[in-house]
Amino acid sequence: MSRFDTIHPRRGTGSLKWDRRPDLDPFWVADMDFTSPPEVLEAIQQRVKHGIFGYAVPHQGLYEALQAYLLRAHDYEAKEDEIVHLGGLVPALSLATKAFAKAGDALMTCMPVYPPFLGVHRDGDLELKAIDHTLSGKDQWTFDWEAMEAAVTPNTKLFILCNPQNPLGRVFSREEVIQLAEFCKRHNLILISDEIHCDLVLDPEATPHFSVLRLPEDLRQRCVTLLAPSKTYNIAGLGYSYAVIPNDSLRRQFNNAKGHLLPEINCLSYYAAEAAYQHGESWRQELIVYLQKNRNTLVDFIQQELPLVVVPKIEATYLAWMDCRALKLDHPATQVEKQASLFLSDGAFFGSPGHLRLNYGCSHTRLLEGLEKLKKGLLPS
Ligand SMILES: Cc1ncc(COP(=O)(O)O)c(C=O)c1O
Repeated sequence: MSRFDTIHPRRGTGSLKWDRRPDLDPFWVADMDFTSPPEVLEAIQQRVKHGIFGYAVPHQGLYEALQAYLLRAHDYEAKEDEIVHLGGLVPALSLATKAFAKAGDALMTCMPVYPPFLGVHRDGDLELKAIDHTLSGKDQWTFDWEAMEAAVTPNTKLFILCNPQNPLGRVFSREEVIQLAEFCKRHNLILISDEIHCDLVLDPEATPHFSVLRLPEDLRQRCVTLLAPSKTYNIAGLGYSYAVIPNDSLRRQFNNAKGHLLPEINCLSYYAAEAAYQHGESWRQELIVYLQKNRNTLVDFIQQELPLVVVPKIEATYLAWMDCRALKLDHPATQVEKQASLFLSDGAFFGSPGHLRLNYGCSHTRLLEGLEKLKKGLLPS
Protein backbone atom coordinates (compact mmCIF):
# COMPACT_ATOMS: atom_id res chain seq x y z
CA MET A 1 0.00 0.00 0.00
CA SER A 2 1.37 3.38 -0.98
CA ARG A 3 0.57 6.62 0.81
CA PHE A 4 -0.83 7.80 -2.55
CA ASP A 5 -3.51 5.07 -2.44
CA THR A 6 -5.32 6.90 0.36
CA ILE A 7 -8.50 8.61 -0.80
CA HIS A 8 -8.92 12.12 0.64
CA PRO A 9 -12.43 13.48 0.06
CA ARG A 10 -12.07 16.98 -1.41
CA ARG A 11 -15.65 17.87 -2.25
CA GLY A 12 -16.79 20.91 -0.26
CA THR A 13 -13.26 22.05 0.61
CA GLY A 14 -13.38 25.05 -1.71
CA SER A 15 -11.43 23.09 -4.32
CA LEU A 16 -11.51 24.44 -7.87
CA LYS A 17 -11.10 20.93 -9.22
CA TRP A 18 -13.86 19.32 -7.14
CA ASP A 19 -16.31 22.11 -6.39
CA ARG A 20 -16.68 23.90 -9.71
CA ARG A 21 -19.00 21.17 -11.03
CA PRO A 22 -20.13 19.07 -8.05
CA ASP A 23 -22.27 16.98 -10.42
CA LEU A 24 -19.21 15.64 -12.29
CA ASP A 25 -16.22 13.40 -11.52
CA PRO A 26 -13.21 15.73 -11.96
CA PHE A 27 -10.04 14.77 -13.85
CA TRP A 28 -9.34 18.23 -15.23
CA VAL A 29 -7.30 21.10 -13.70
CA ALA A 30 -3.66 20.33 -12.83
CA ASP A 31 -3.69 19.60 -9.13
CA MET A 32 -3.36 16.17 -7.58
CA ASP A 33 -5.63 14.41 -5.08
CA PHE A 34 -2.65 13.75 -2.77
CA THR A 35 -1.72 15.43 0.48
CA SER A 36 1.59 17.31 0.37
CA PRO A 37 4.75 15.88 1.97
CA PRO A 38 4.47 15.71 5.80
CA GLU A 39 7.45 18.06 6.11
CA VAL A 40 5.56 20.69 4.11
CA LEU A 41 2.46 20.32 6.28
CA GLU A 42 4.61 20.58 9.41
CA ALA A 43 6.35 23.75 8.18
CA ILE A 44 3.01 25.41 7.46
CA GLN A 45 1.64 24.36 10.86
CA GLN A 46 4.71 25.74 12.64
CA ARG A 47 4.26 29.06 10.88
CA VAL A 48 0.52 29.10 11.64
CA LYS A 49 1.24 28.48 15.35
CA HIS A 50 3.00 31.83 15.51
CA GLY A 51 -0.40 33.40 14.89
CA ILE A 52 0.70 36.63 13.19
CA PHE A 53 0.36 36.89 9.42
CA GLY A 54 1.64 40.33 8.52
CA TYR A 55 3.37 41.20 5.23
CA ALA A 56 6.20 38.82 4.55
CA VAL A 57 9.61 38.80 2.92
CA PRO A 58 11.44 35.71 1.67
CA HIS A 59 13.53 34.51 4.60
CA GLN A 60 17.11 33.24 4.48
CA GLY A 61 16.05 29.58 4.70
CA LEU A 62 14.01 29.96 1.52
CA TYR A 63 16.96 31.45 -0.37
CA GLU A 64 19.15 28.58 0.79
CA ALA A 65 16.54 26.03 -0.29
CA LEU A 66 16.10 27.63 -3.73
CA GLN A 67 19.83 27.94 -4.32
CA ALA A 68 20.47 24.34 -3.25
CA TYR A 69 17.63 23.15 -5.50
CA LEU A 70 18.84 25.15 -8.52
CA LEU A 71 22.32 23.68 -8.10
CA ARG A 72 21.10 20.12 -7.51
CA ALA A 73 18.42 19.99 -10.22
CA HIS A 74 19.74 22.39 -12.86
CA ASP A 75 23.47 22.66 -12.12
CA TYR A 76 23.00 26.41 -11.75
CA GLU A 77 24.62 28.56 -9.11
CA ALA A 78 22.05 31.33 -8.63
CA LYS A 79 22.83 34.58 -6.88
CA GLU A 80 20.10 35.73 -4.51
CA ASP A 81 19.28 38.79 -6.55
CA GLU A 82 18.72 36.76 -9.75
CA ILE A 83 15.64 35.24 -8.11
CA VAL A 84 12.35 37.13 -8.52
CA HIS A 85 9.64 35.88 -6.14
CA LEU A 86 6.13 35.69 -7.53
CA GLY A 87 2.66 34.70 -6.42
CA GLY A 88 2.11 32.69 -9.61
CA LEU A 89 3.65 31.92 -12.98
CA VAL A 90 0.71 33.02 -15.10
CA PRO A 91 1.19 36.64 -13.93
CA ALA A 92 4.86 36.24 -14.91
CA LEU A 93 3.86 35.34 -18.48
CA SER A 94 1.68 38.42 -18.56
CA LEU A 95 4.42 40.66 -17.11
CA ALA A 96 6.83 39.41 -19.79
CA THR A 97 4.53 40.73 -22.52
CA LYS A 98 4.73 44.20 -20.99
CA ALA A 99 8.40 44.07 -20.00
CA PHE A 100 9.97 42.87 -23.24
CA ALA A 101 7.67 44.14 -25.99
CA LYS A 102 5.52 47.12 -26.87
CA ALA A 103 1.96 47.25 -28.22
CA GLY A 104 1.85 45.95 -31.80
CA ASP A 105 4.87 43.62 -31.37
CA ALA A 106 4.43 39.86 -31.56
CA LEU A 107 4.86 36.87 -29.26
CA MET A 108 5.57 33.37 -30.52
CA THR A 109 4.70 30.08 -28.87
CA CYS A 110 3.87 26.53 -29.96
CA MET A 111 0.61 24.69 -29.47
CA PRO A 112 -1.31 22.81 -28.22
CA VAL A 113 -0.30 24.46 -24.98
CA TYR A 114 -1.47 25.47 -21.50
CA PRO A 115 -4.27 27.97 -22.32
CA PRO A 116 -2.80 31.17 -20.77
CA PHE A 117 0.07 30.91 -23.30
CA LEU A 118 -2.55 31.62 -25.96
CA GLY A 119 -4.09 34.53 -24.05
CA VAL A 120 -1.37 36.61 -22.37
CA HIS A 121 -0.47 38.45 -25.60
CA ARG A 122 -3.66 40.49 -25.06
CA ASP A 123 -2.26 41.88 -21.79
CA GLY A 124 0.54 43.56 -23.72
CA ASP A 125 -1.50 44.27 -26.86
CA LEU A 126 0.71 41.91 -28.82
CA GLU A 127 0.04 39.81 -31.86
CA LEU A 128 0.07 36.03 -31.22
CA LYS A 129 2.04 33.72 -33.48
CA ALA A 130 1.03 30.25 -32.32
CA ILE A 131 2.80 27.56 -34.34
CA ASP A 132 1.65 23.95 -34.21
CA HIS A 133 4.00 21.44 -32.63
CA THR A 134 4.74 18.70 -35.12
CA LEU A 135 5.15 14.94 -34.85
CA SER A 136 8.55 13.48 -35.56
CA GLY A 137 8.14 9.73 -35.97
CA LYS A 138 4.98 8.11 -34.66
CA ASP A 139 4.54 9.78 -31.29
CA GLN A 140 7.35 12.24 -30.58
CA TRP A 141 6.20 15.87 -30.55
CA THR A 142 8.78 18.47 -31.48
CA PHE A 143 9.12 21.96 -32.98
CA ASP A 144 8.21 22.82 -36.54
CA TRP A 145 11.39 24.79 -37.22
CA GLU A 146 10.40 25.62 -40.79
CA ALA A 147 7.02 27.02 -39.78
CA MET A 148 8.67 29.01 -36.98
CA GLU A 149 11.25 30.49 -39.36
CA ALA A 150 8.49 31.37 -41.82
CA ALA A 151 6.35 33.07 -39.16
CA VAL A 152 8.95 35.04 -37.20
CA THR A 153 9.10 38.78 -38.05
CA PRO A 154 11.35 41.64 -36.95
CA ASN A 155 8.67 42.79 -34.50
CA THR A 156 8.49 39.34 -32.81
CA LYS A 157 10.08 39.93 -29.40
CA LEU A 158 9.24 36.93 -27.24
CA PHE A 159 9.10 33.17 -27.39
CA ILE A 160 7.25 31.36 -24.61
CA LEU A 161 8.34 27.76 -24.13
CA CYS A 162 6.61 25.14 -22.03
CA ASN A 163 9.13 22.45 -21.02
CA PRO A 164 8.12 19.85 -19.92
CA GLN A 165 5.23 20.45 -22.22
CA ASN A 166 1.67 20.73 -20.92
CA PRO A 167 -0.42 19.07 -22.36
CA LEU A 168 1.85 16.95 -24.60
CA GLY A 169 3.92 15.50 -21.75
CA ARG A 170 7.09 15.92 -23.79
CA VAL A 171 10.48 16.68 -22.18
CA PHE A 172 12.43 18.52 -24.87
CA SER A 173 15.98 17.27 -25.34
CA ARG A 174 19.16 19.26 -24.77
CA GLU A 175 19.55 19.53 -28.57
CA GLU A 176 16.03 20.87 -29.05
CA VAL A 177 16.40 23.45 -26.26
CA ILE A 178 19.73 24.63 -27.68
CA GLN A 179 18.24 24.84 -31.17
CA LEU A 180 15.35 26.88 -29.82
CA ALA A 181 17.66 29.23 -27.91
CA GLU A 182 19.72 29.72 -31.07
CA PHE A 183 16.55 30.47 -33.01
CA CYS A 184 15.73 33.10 -30.36
CA LYS A 185 19.23 34.58 -30.56
CA ARG A 186 19.14 34.73 -34.35
CA HIS A 187 15.84 36.62 -34.28
CA ASN A 188 16.58 38.63 -31.14
CA LEU A 189 13.75 37.11 -29.07
CA ILE A 190 13.64 36.87 -25.29
CA LEU A 191 13.07 33.24 -24.32
CA ILE A 192 10.58 32.76 -21.50
CA SER A 193 10.87 29.15 -20.36
CA ASP A 194 8.05 27.86 -18.17
CA GLU A 195 9.54 24.82 -16.42
CA ILE A 196 6.90 24.39 -13.72
CA HIS A 197 6.60 20.64 -14.49
CA CYS A 198 10.36 19.94 -14.52
CA ASP A 199 10.40 17.91 -11.29
CA LEU A 200 7.70 15.61 -12.67
CA VAL A 201 9.83 13.86 -15.29
CA LEU A 202 8.74 10.22 -15.22
CA ASP A 203 11.78 8.52 -16.78
CA PRO A 204 14.64 10.88 -15.93
CA GLU A 205 17.33 8.48 -17.19
CA ALA A 206 15.76 8.25 -20.66
CA THR A 207 14.44 11.81 -20.96
CA PRO A 208 16.31 14.15 -18.60
CA HIS A 209 15.01 17.70 -18.36
CA PHE A 210 17.37 20.33 -19.78
CA SER A 211 16.64 23.71 -18.24
CA VAL A 212 17.53 26.88 -20.13
CA LEU A 213 19.63 27.59 -17.02
CA ARG A 214 22.05 24.99 -18.41
CA LEU A 215 22.55 26.86 -21.68
CA PRO A 216 25.89 28.46 -22.52
CA GLU A 217 26.20 31.92 -20.95
CA ASP A 218 25.46 33.97 -24.11
CA LEU A 219 22.18 32.09 -24.70
CA ARG A 220 21.19 32.02 -21.01
CA GLN A 221 21.52 35.81 -20.85
CA ARG A 222 18.39 36.18 -22.98
CA CYS A 223 16.30 33.77 -20.88
CA VAL A 224 13.76 34.06 -18.11
CA THR A 225 13.23 30.72 -16.33
CA LEU A 226 9.92 30.23 -14.55
CA LEU A 227 9.84 27.65 -11.76
CA ALA A 228 7.72 26.61 -8.79
CA PRO A 229 7.36 23.79 -6.28
CA SER A 230 3.58 24.04 -6.68
CA LYS A 231 2.80 21.26 -9.19
CA THR A 232 5.24 18.71 -7.79
CA TYR A 233 4.36 19.08 -4.12
CA ASN A 234 0.69 19.92 -4.70
CA ILE A 235 0.77 23.38 -3.13
CA ALA A 236 -0.58 25.43 -6.05
CA GLY A 237 -3.31 26.93 -3.86
CA LEU A 238 -0.68 28.56 -1.64
CA GLY A 239 0.55 30.64 -4.57
CA TYR A 240 4.33 30.71 -4.71
CA SER A 241 6.56 30.58 -7.75
CA TYR A 242 9.66 32.39 -8.94
CA ALA A 243 11.61 33.53 -11.95
CA VAL A 244 15.36 33.20 -12.36
CA ILE A 245 16.66 36.05 -14.54
CA PRO A 246 20.46 36.12 -14.75
CA ASN A 247 20.60 39.24 -16.96
CA ASP A 248 20.45 42.45 -14.87
CA SER A 249 18.80 44.54 -17.53
CA LEU A 250 16.08 41.95 -18.30
CA ARG A 251 15.45 41.55 -14.58
CA ARG A 252 15.05 45.30 -14.14
CA GLN A 253 12.62 45.48 -17.07
CA PHE A 254 10.65 42.54 -15.65
CA ASN A 255 10.46 44.06 -12.16
CA ASN A 256 9.49 47.48 -13.55
CA ALA A 257 6.59 45.92 -15.45
CA LYS A 258 5.04 44.81 -12.15
CA GLY A 259 3.77 48.32 -11.42
CA HIS A 260 1.25 47.97 -8.61
CA LEU A 261 -0.49 44.96 -10.12
CA LEU A 262 0.82 42.14 -7.98
CA PRO A 263 -0.32 41.46 -4.40
CA GLU A 264 2.08 40.62 -1.57
CA ILE A 265 3.11 36.98 -1.54
CA ASN A 266 1.41 34.64 0.97
CA CYS A 267 3.56 34.35 4.11
CA LEU A 268 2.80 30.62 4.53
CA SER A 269 3.82 29.82 0.97
CA TYR A 270 7.43 30.84 1.59
CA TYR A 271 7.74 28.24 4.35
CA ALA A 272 5.94 25.57 2.33
CA ALA A 273 8.31 26.15 -0.61
CA GLU A 274 11.37 25.99 1.62
CA ALA A 275 10.25 22.69 3.18
CA ALA A 276 9.29 21.18 -0.19
CA TYR A 277 12.71 21.81 -1.69
CA GLN A 278 14.71 21.01 1.46
CA HIS A 279 12.85 17.94 2.67
CA GLY A 280 10.51 16.73 -0.07
CA GLU A 281 12.87 14.68 -2.22
CA SER A 282 12.08 11.18 -0.93
CA TRP A 283 8.34 11.94 -1.16
CA ARG A 284 8.89 13.18 -4.73
CA GLN A 285 10.72 9.96 -5.64
CA GLU A 286 7.77 7.92 -4.33
CA LEU A 287 5.38 10.15 -6.24
CA ILE A 288 7.24 9.58 -9.52
CA VAL A 289 7.03 5.79 -9.07
CA TYR A 290 3.29 6.08 -8.39
CA LEU A 291 2.71 8.34 -11.39
CA GLN A 292 4.68 5.96 -13.63
CA LYS A 293 2.30 3.17 -12.62
CA ASN A 294 -0.75 5.37 -13.29
CA ARG A 295 0.62 6.46 -16.64
CA ASN A 296 1.32 2.87 -17.69
CA THR A 297 -2.15 1.75 -16.64
CA LEU A 298 -3.72 4.60 -18.57
CA VAL A 299 -1.72 3.96 -21.74
CA ASP A 300 -2.47 0.19 -21.63
CA PHE A 301 -6.17 0.84 -21.02
CA ILE A 302 -6.46 3.25 -23.94
CA GLN A 303 -4.60 0.87 -26.26
CA GLN A 304 -6.84 -2.05 -25.34
CA GLU A 305 -10.22 -0.44 -24.76
CA LEU A 306 -10.15 2.71 -26.88
CA PRO A 307 -7.75 1.87 -29.74
CA LEU A 308 -8.92 4.80 -31.88
CA VAL A 309 -7.76 7.28 -29.22
CA VAL A 310 -4.12 8.30 -29.66
CA VAL A 311 -1.97 9.17 -26.63
CA PRO A 312 1.53 10.53 -27.27
CA LYS A 313 4.41 9.14 -25.21
CA ILE A 314 4.01 10.73 -21.77
CA GLU A 315 7.48 11.65 -20.54
CA ALA A 316 6.47 14.06 -17.76
CA THR A 317 3.52 15.56 -15.82
CA TYR A 318 0.43 13.76 -14.53
CA LEU A 319 -1.57 14.88 -17.55
CA ALA A 320 -2.52 12.66 -20.49
CA TRP A 321 -3.27 14.24 -23.86
CA MET A 322 -5.72 12.20 -25.89
CA ASP A 323 -6.40 12.66 -29.59
CA CYS A 324 -10.03 11.60 -30.05
CA ARG A 325 -10.48 12.85 -33.61
CA ALA A 326 -10.70 9.37 -35.12
CA LEU A 327 -13.88 8.82 -33.07
CA LYS A 328 -15.51 11.59 -35.14
CA LEU A 329 -17.41 13.08 -32.20
CA ASP A 330 -18.82 16.61 -32.41
CA HIS A 331 -17.45 17.58 -29.02
CA PRO A 332 -15.68 14.90 -26.93
CA ALA A 333 -15.57 16.94 -23.68
CA THR A 334 -19.33 17.51 -23.76
CA GLN A 335 -19.99 13.91 -24.68
CA VAL A 336 -17.99 12.45 -21.74
CA GLU A 337 -19.72 14.93 -19.47
CA LYS A 338 -23.21 13.96 -20.67
CA GLN A 339 -22.64 10.23 -21.08
CA ALA A 340 -20.37 9.51 -18.12
CA SER A 341 -20.46 12.56 -15.77
CA LEU A 342 -16.73 13.05 -16.35
CA PHE A 343 -15.07 16.45 -16.15
CA LEU A 344 -11.98 16.49 -18.41
CA SER A 345 -10.12 19.43 -19.95
CA ASP A 346 -11.35 20.29 -23.43
CA GLY A 347 -8.54 20.31 -26.00
CA ALA A 348 -10.09 23.35 -27.70
CA PHE A 349 -8.78 25.55 -24.87
CA PHE A 350 -5.24 24.37 -25.65
CA GLY A 351 -5.67 25.12 -29.34
CA SER A 352 -6.69 21.57 -30.43
CA PRO A 353 -10.40 20.74 -30.65
CA GLY A 354 -11.13 17.00 -30.75
CA HIS A 355 -8.66 16.32 -27.93
CA LEU A 356 -9.08 15.73 -24.20
CA ARG A 357 -6.64 16.11 -21.30
CA LEU A 358 -6.98 13.75 -18.36
CA ASN A 359 -5.31 14.40 -14.98
CA TYR A 360 -4.11 11.08 -13.50
CA GLY A 361 -2.64 12.62 -10.34
CA CYS A 362 -4.99 10.56 -8.17
CA SER A 363 -5.19 7.17 -6.47
CA HIS A 364 -4.87 4.16 -8.73
CA THR A 365 -8.37 3.00 -7.79
CA ARG A 366 -9.88 6.32 -8.73
CA LEU A 367 -7.96 6.31 -12.02
CA LEU A 368 -9.35 2.88 -12.90
CA GLU A 369 -12.89 4.10 -12.20
CA GLY A 370 -12.25 7.20 -14.29
CA LEU A 371 -10.96 5.14 -17.21
CA GLU A 372 -14.07 2.93 -17.18
CA LYS A 373 -16.16 6.10 -17.26
CA LEU A 374 -14.05 7.43 -20.11
CA LYS A 375 -14.81 4.32 -22.13
CA LYS A 376 -18.51 4.70 -21.42
CA GLY A 377 -18.30 8.39 -22.31
CA LEU A 378 -16.49 8.01 -25.60
CA LEU A 379 -18.10 4.91 -27.06
CA PRO A 380 -21.62 4.95 -28.53
CA SER A 381 -24.28 4.74 -25.79
C1 LIG B 1 2.78 25.18 -17.86
C2 LIG B 1 2.10 25.81 -16.69
N1 LIG B 1 2.47 27.04 -16.29
C3 LIG B 1 1.87 27.65 -15.25
C4 LIG B 1 0.85 27.04 -14.54
C5 LIG B 1 0.20 27.74 -13.41
O1 LIG B 1 1.13 28.35 -12.60
P1 LIG B 1 0.71 29.28 -11.39
O2 LIG B 1 -0.30 28.51 -10.59
O3 LIG B 1 2.01 29.48 -10.67
O4 LIG B 1 0.17 30.54 -11.97
C6 LIG B 1 0.43 25.77 -14.92
C7 LIG B 1 -0.68 25.11 -14.23
O5 LIG B 1 -1.16 24.09 -14.59
C8 LIG B 1 1.07 25.14 -16.03
O6 LIG B 1 0.73 23.91 -16.42
